[in-house]
Amino acid sequence: MTTPYCPHYPRPQAERPSAWRMFFSKRRSWLDALYERSYHMKMGEVHLPGIDLYMVNEPALVRRVMVDEAAAFPKHSMLGDALRPLLGDSIFTTNGEVWQRQRALMDPSFEGARIKHVFGRMREAAQAMVDRLKQVPDGAEHDVEIEMTHVAADIILRTIVSQPLDSRGAHQVFEAFARYQALAPRLMMPAFFGLRWLRPWWQVRRSRRAAAEIRALLVEWIRPRFDTAHRSPDDASAEESDILATLLRVRDPVTGQGFGFEELIDQVAMLFLAGHETSASALSWALHLLAHAPDLQERLHDEARTLFDPDSNDSSALKDLTLTRNVFREALRLFPPVGFLARQSAQACTLRDKRIPAHASVVVSPWLIQRHRGLWARPDEFDPDRYEGDAPEAPLPVRESLRKAYLPFGMGPRVCIGATFAQQEAALILATLAREFRFEPVPGHEPEPVGRLTIRAENGIRLRVFRRADGAR
Ligand code: HEM
Repeated sequence: MTTPYCPHYPRPQAERPSAWRMFFSKRRSWLDALYERSYHMKMGEVHLPGIDLYMVNEPALVRRVMVDEAAAFPKHSMLGDALRPLLGDSIFTTNGEVWQRQRALMDPSFEGARIKHVFGRMREAAQAMVDRLKQVPDGAEHDVEIEMTHVAADIILRTIVSQPLDSRGAHQVFEAFARYQALAPRLMMPAFFGLRWLRPWWQVRRSRRAAAEIRALLVEWIRPRFDTAHRSPDDASAEESDILATLLRVRDPVTGQGFGFEELIDQVAMLFLAGHETSASALSWALHLLAHAPDLQERLHDEARTLFDPDSNDSSALKDLTLTRNVFREALRLFPPVGFLARQSAQACTLRDKRIPAHASVVVSPWLIQRHRGLWARPDEFDPDRYEGDAPEAPLPVRESLRKAYLPFGMGPRVCIGATFAQQEAALILATLAREFRFEPVPGHEPEPVGRLTIRAENGIRLRVFRRADGAR
């Protein structure tokens, strides 16, 4: 019996810090502001002048906010404020009828059949990743966070706009996004606490400049295809099999209208951000966890060698990779890339016995819920096999924990549109890596999780990478 691995994360403080201390001293990461009770409580609250924030953990309340009364708890306005320079009015931040129309126009591009269709493009990016990793000297240290960000961005650009990341323009987009992302949380936190004036003007300007660069490049790629699609809708993009082709074809059944040009740029920019940052975070943490579980890594390698054919373009074979799927599921539980989901009460309401004013911030945190002491057995332990067990574990059997307290992709009407895409991509990348490589921790290097746009490691995730003698094709 091997010792279970519990990955490091910022130890919660024993006592709740004051709200001001939380804001001013814990701006490095919202994970630092959590305290012991956060992992036990059903609901918590923080009050600052001009802001009321309620944290909801109890499954029945989470369901109310996210599913049953989702319209009464729209997306928080600070998301739109912080991301508008880059994303305009994208599906990630809009609410009400605007969001409904956008979601209806985007859903067809993310149906299972479409996602299978782009599998070949995902495989090309996976192969490019293998070629890069083979350049790393055997056993050398490598920052897998950088590597996973590269491959996730490559996959998104290839599947959405048919641009591999090594093309010049794609690389510029990638680099400008990195600048934008580094600034976004610093601009978002003051907005969240109602203190927009605290945002340094030079950071606001740098962030706007990065956003303008990205949008200019997207315009260059998309304009010709948009014009063709609108000149001759019947044959437009017929030969293209990327996601942009579907986005250009789709029409609102009532009005007969598709996306306008600016609106389309907003959606593509958002897909790039939402689609690569999240997957990169999840895959990096999955590798970190695996490096600390050598037996499991061997089992994963066996599964990949026997059940995964890297030369096949048939994505349906991925469904046989049970352990691979459970590893990813467990990585998403311990390190959900989107660690908190921010909503706002449209009107005054009551949650549990609390009177919530209108426009209060209501936060649902997958990070807290998926490590909640009352909802998960062995909450901090990395155990992908837990999903196959049916032992009666306390406090809940795993099936029930999954049903009530597992939401890495959100839930309800705003559930992640790219969940199937992300799961297919993750199975492909993890199986490809497990077949060809082995990872070991670097002694003395402990990745430090920080909660920003997604949950990332402040000091990177460095691992030693070894080539498998029996993995080569
Ligand atoms: C492991 C990878 C991913 C994770 C963990 C993830 C997580 C999430 C979560 C939690 C939400 C809901 C946010 C909220 O309710 O406030 C969301 C929304 C969204 N995600 Fe993902 N995501 C992932 C990958 C992707 C990919 C690959 C794409 C696109 C290619 C994507 C596109 C979107 C979009 C468009 C929304 C907004 C949906 C709406 O509001 O209608 N995501 N994602």
